[in-house]
Amino acid sequence: MPRVRISGVKDYVGRTVRIAGWLYNRRSSGKVVFVIIRDGTGLLQCVGTASDLSPELIRQADGLPQESSLWVWGMIREDPRAPGGYELGLEGLEVIQPADPDYPLSLKEHGVEFLMDNRHLWLRTPRQAAIMRVRAEVIRACRDHLDAQGFLPVDAPVLTPSACEGTSTLFGTDYFGEQAYLTQSGQLYNEAAAMALGRVYCFGPTFRAEKSKTRRHLIEFWMLEPEMAFVEHEENMLIQEGLVCAAVARVLSRNLADLEELDRELAPLERVRSPFPRITYDEALELLARKGVPLPWGEDLGSPHETALAEEFDRPVFVTHYPAGCKAFYMQPDPRRPDVVLCDDLLAPEGYGEIIGGSQRIHDLELMDKRVREIGLPVEAYRWYMDLRRFGSVPHSGFGLGIERLVSWICRLPHVREAAPFPRLLNRIYP
Ligand code: 4AD
Ligand code: MG
Repeated sequence: MPRVRISGVKDYVGRTVRIAGWLYNRRSSGKVVFVIIRDGTGLLQCVGTASDLSPELIRQADGLPQESSLWVWGMIREDPRAPGGYELGLEGLEVIQPADPDYPLSLKEHGVEFLMDNRHLWLRTPRQAAIMRVRAEVIRACRDHLDAQGFLPVDAPVLTPSACEGTSTLFGTDYFGEQAYLTQSGQLYNEAAAMALGRVYCFGPTFRAEKSKTRRHLIEFWMLEPEMAFVEHEENMLIQEGLVCAAVARVLSRNLADLEELDRELAPLERVRSPFPRITYDEALELLARKGVPLPWGEDLGSPHETALAEEFDRPVFVTHYPAGCKAFYMQPDPRRPDVVLCDDLLAPEGYGEIIGGSQRIHDLELMDKRVREIGLPVEAYRWYMDLRRFGSVPHSGFGLGIERLVSWICRLPHVREAAPFPRLLNRIYP
C-alpha cells in the first residue's frame, strides 16, 4: 500500500493508500463516520460506512479526540463535495496516540493572546500552516532569483562586536568578558563579502531591541540582504524591484490554495509589476502635507506617513533621497545635494509600509572616517570596515528585505507576528 501525503492524493485516484496525520475534525450520522485528518500538506475527508468497517472501529473513530495522531487507509476517490475535491473511503484506521481530550485550541474562535500563548499548537491550524507555506515559498523564490542572477550566499555572523543600524536598538550579550551584540543586520560583513565575491547575499535572523509595539515590528526577524560591488543607487532599485516581483509572482503561481485559505484578494498582487513608482522624500513630504499628515523636513517617516503615502499607489513605491540625518551612517550623500543620501525605502501598498531599506554605501575612505567619528562610533571596532575603503574601494550598494514584512503583506495579515513561526515581541518570549 503506497504511503502518500494529502497534497499528493490527486495522483492516486482509484488506488488504496495509507496516510499518517492528525485528527482535525469528525462527525457521524448513524451509519456513516466522517474523519477529517490533516498532515501538514492539507486536509482530507475520510468516509467510513458501517458496511465497510467493524462496529468497534466506527465506535473508536467516533470517540477520538481532536489532534489524535493516526494512520488511515482506504481508496482515494474524486468527490467535488469533499473539501479539496478528493476523499478517502475509509477501510481501516490505527491510532498512534489518542490525544488528551483537553486540546486548548478547539475549533472555535479564540483571542489573540490565548493563541499566542499556544503558538506551538496554533501553528497546526490551516490558516497558520498556509502562512508558513507562503513564507517558505517566498524564501525559496528570493534565493532562486538571486542565485540565478549570479549572487553568492555568504552568511554573516549573529554575534558581533559593534552596531550596524544605530546604537539605540542593540541587544547586548557577554562574550567571555567582552561586550558583544546580536546582529541588527549583516550588511557590514556583506560589504566585505561583496568586495571579495562581487555579488552576495546573506539571509538570517536579525535583532532589534526596539521598544516598538506596532503591527510591523518584531524583536527578532529574518532579513535577506543582497550587496553588490560596482552597483549604484538606480541599479540597486532595479534589483529590489526584480526581487519583489519574482517573490510575488512565485506565490501567485504556487500558493493559490494558501492564498484562498487566507481569503487573500489576488488583484493587488497581480498588479505587482515593474516599474514601481519612485518619489523623493521631498515629494513625499508635499504629498503628506496635502493629505493632512504633515512631517517636518529632516524627520524619518513613521508608520502613519508610510501608510498614507503607499495608499496613493497601486503597487509598491520607492521613496528615495532621505535627509542624511535620519538615516544610517554608511549611506552615500547625493553628490548634487549632500544633505540627502542615495537611499530608498520600498513601501508596500494596502497599509503595510516599509518592506525594504536600501542604499548606496559611502566608498570614500575620508568621508566614511568623518561619518564614523561624527556620530561617535568606536573607531577601533570599525577598523576592518575602513579597510574596505582602503584597498580597492568601489561604489557599491545593497539592501535589506524583511521577510516577515513581505510575507505579512503578501498574505495580508493583520499583524507581522503571524508571519514568524515563533515571534519574539516586546512583551513576549514564550513559547
Ligand atoms: O531599514 P533597515 O533597518 O535596514 C538595514 O538594516 C540595512 N542594514 C539593510 C541593508 O541595507 N543590508 O531594515 C531593513 C528591513 C526593513 O525594510 C524591514 O523590512 C525589516 O528589515 N525590518 C523589520 N522587520 C520586522 N521587525 C522589525 N523590527 C524590523 N526592522 C526592520
Ligand atoms: Mg529602514
